[in-house]
Amino acid sequence: MDVLLTGGAGFIGSAVATALSSAGHTVRVLDALLPAVHPHQEPPPFPDGVEFVHGDVRDRETVERALHGMQAVCHQAAMVGLGLDFDDAPDYAGCNDLGTAVLLSAMARARVARLALASSMVVYGEGRYRCAEHGEVVPGPRRPADLDAGRFEPPCPRCGAALSPDLVDESAAADPRNVYAATKLAQEHLASAWARATAGRVFALRYHNVYGPNMPRDTPYAGVASLFRSALARGEAPRVFEDGAQRRDFVHVTDVASANLAAVGALSEQPPGHFRAYNVGSGTVHTIADMAAALAVGGPAPTVTGQYRLGDVRHITADSRRLREELDWRPQVPFATGMREFATAPLRH
Ligand SMILES: NC(=O)c1ccc[n+]([C@@H]2O[C@H](COP(=O)([O-])OP(=O)(O)OC[C@H]3O[C@@H](n4cnc5c(N)ncnc54)[C@H](O)[C@@H]3O)[C@@H](O)[C@H]2O)c1
Ligand SMILES: [Zn+2]
Repeated sequence: MDVLLTGGAGFIGSAVATALSSAGHTVRVLDALLPAVHPHQEPPPFPDGVEFVHGDVRDRETVERALHGMQAVCHQAAMVGLGLDFDDAPDYAGCNDLGTAVLLSAMARARVARLALASSMVVYGEGRYRCAEHGEVVPGPRRPADLDAGRFEPPCPRCGAALSPDLVDESAAADPRNVYAATKLAQEHLASAWARATAGRVFALRYHNVYGPNMPRDTPYAGVASLFRSALARGEAPRVFEDGAQRRDFVHVTDVASANLAAVGALSEQPPGHFRAYNVGSGTVHTIADMAAALAVGGPAPTVTGQYRLGDVRHITADSRRLREELDWRPQVPFATGMREFATAPLRH
């Protein structure tokens, strides 16, 4: 199939480019090479046959040209991470939501009806929790006073008791807790509206914590795994926020790429108007402290700082059964192997 891959110069996008092209798809990358992630304004090396178009998804004419002759779109382009401060909000909304709207309208005009959308676990906010007394509950945002006092676990919103964290599946209600999360959820809503209005087909892949080679170096927009790796590369101890017991699902970038490959292949079999979300996680739960320790082998041991970021959630771990069952996807890289390799893998720039 001829696939337009937006954001294909990025960390995940470049792995998707490799997976799609190795499987025999024809890939055209569209990427704006955002300066925050591409300070040298150079695309990464792509496999033979992958075409690169330097351009912005917010630009209607660029997108129309890039869509010419394409049969599906794999939309990875986005501004990622928590950002610096609220001043970033217009750029997040512009790249992620205006950009998605421009892309979708151009797809409708070009009659390209298949979309694999990079979504995120951040749409869920706090993961899923159980209270012994009240069953499944949804804790509200954590209060700064609690965080300052080192009370990191969100309490039961009804009785204040301690909660046990659970795996989140796709039926969990969306509850975005920061600007980035709000823009990722809006991308899903736009894509779903597009599918209904134009008989399109969408798979929204909600990636959990992606890690692996070619992660960007630490910037306010980078993920925790790359922050730790960058610190270690400078000979510094990774600085673990809160108490390190935050639970996450770390999924290797090649497994995320194979999820996109599975999605692009299966889109054709879906009925018009179809929208379906899938968690993309490894299926195993680890803490941030586990990850820091796995990366710090041979380097300075992690420091647990007690600091926090207001937009962070405490625990969020995936139930990825739907993706395994419906799209026959299997993550291949176990945590220990992936982290061992990532501990010495190159970071971007
Ligand atoms: N890294 C993770 O852990 C993670 C987790 C969940 C979801 N995601 C999603 O995966 C996708 C890829 O993220 P990544 O980690 O590879 O980030 P990245 O920053 O490495 O890659 C994003 C790419 O998109 C490009 N881009 C951004 N805005 C653009 C625009 N307006 N027009 C054209 N290109 C633009 C950037 O130049 C960059 O090359 C994003 O949609 C992100 O929201 C990532
Ligand atoms: Zn309770």
